Amino acid sequence: MHYPSILDAIGHTPLVQLKKMNIPSQITLLAKVEFLNPGGSIKDRIVKYIIDDAEQQGLLKPGGTIIENTSGNTGAAAAMIGAIRGYRVILTMPDKVSREKQNALKAYGAEIIVTPTSAAPDSPEHYVNRAKQLAQKTPNSFRINQYDNLKNPEAHYRTTGPEIWTQAQGQVDYFVASASTGGTITGVGRFLKERNPNVKVIMPDPMGSIYYPYFKTGQIPTDGNCNYLLEGIGEDHLAHALDFAIVDDVVQVTDADAFQMARQLANTEGLLAGGSSGANVWAAVKLAQALTKPATIVTILPDSGVKYLSKLFDDDWMKQNRL
Ligand SMILES: Cc1ncc(COP(=O)(O)O)c(C=O)c1O
Repeated sequence: MHYPSILDAIGHTPLVQLKKMNIPSQITLLAKVEFLNPGGSIKDRIVKYIIDDAEQQGLLKPGGTIIENTSGNTGAAAAMIGAIRGYRVILTMPDKVSREKQNALKAYGAEIIVTPTSAAPDSPEHYVNRAKQLAQKTPNSFRINQYDNLKNPEAHYRTTGPEIWTQAQGQVDYFVASASTGGTITGVGRFLKERNPNVKVIMPDPMGSIYYPYFKTGQIPTDGNCNYLLEGIGEDHLAHALDFAIVDDVVQVTDADAFQMARQLANTEGLLAGGSSGANVWAAVKLAQALTKPATIVTILPDSGVKYLSKLFDDDWMKQNRL
């Protein structure tokens, strides 16, 4: 058996039980290993889904250009697909994106534009606004628009959610996933809640992101930012792809908690995953420790630790950042 292309290997990732975590014995903790997607992250799912749809609708034509704002993973998926299907790919990203992720995009042949992480959401220098401006002035271009494109949660509703439900044999009590666009938590959470309305959906959120204060108060804080070191989760602006009606609670996580858990995942469970995976597992473990009845918690390992070898898996970098 062979695949027509590497894009046919997207999805159908394993759901793996974490056995080395310090949690009560009656709790089953399962992690969906999304870093095994060919582009190294969960974003392969949404990008393939959105680009297939854009081609079918005639929004993306042969010889066209794909443009997107990305923290690196959506960009990797777009660049991989662009390489296979012959599209030019231009990606904008904040300068905190790891060197590994930036270089991977260039390896696939994409062009990258790096903007200051500190740029305010309404600044023309903000990476999302740079992508919008580029899309307006580039003929025959298509912007994936992952933050506001409802095809993003739909991709997870149609693929990630059903896979989890089948793999867990319908035994899911909690789903824990941090969010940037919110596509994962919204699509998977919606699917699981439709199957079982008692499923609770919990979102870990980095300190500084607007999601935690927004969820708790209904107000967008004026000092929200993405100046924490975690990549790809939390936000300084709201996203239409994120439906807070699906979310039951938001918990704050620090860079140190997330990175230390990612390192623990690698050296105890043999799962080399990124910082957001650490944040997800850290929150899942905290939840497990507070539960008194048997339960199954499912969480996500969104991307590979190989994308951060010069950061959270580098002892000197950890020391320099006092982590
Ligand atoms: C490493 C990483 N983890 C988690 C997420 C969050 O996924 P979502 O955008 O579906 O909320 C992203 C999104 O960019 C990411 O790059």
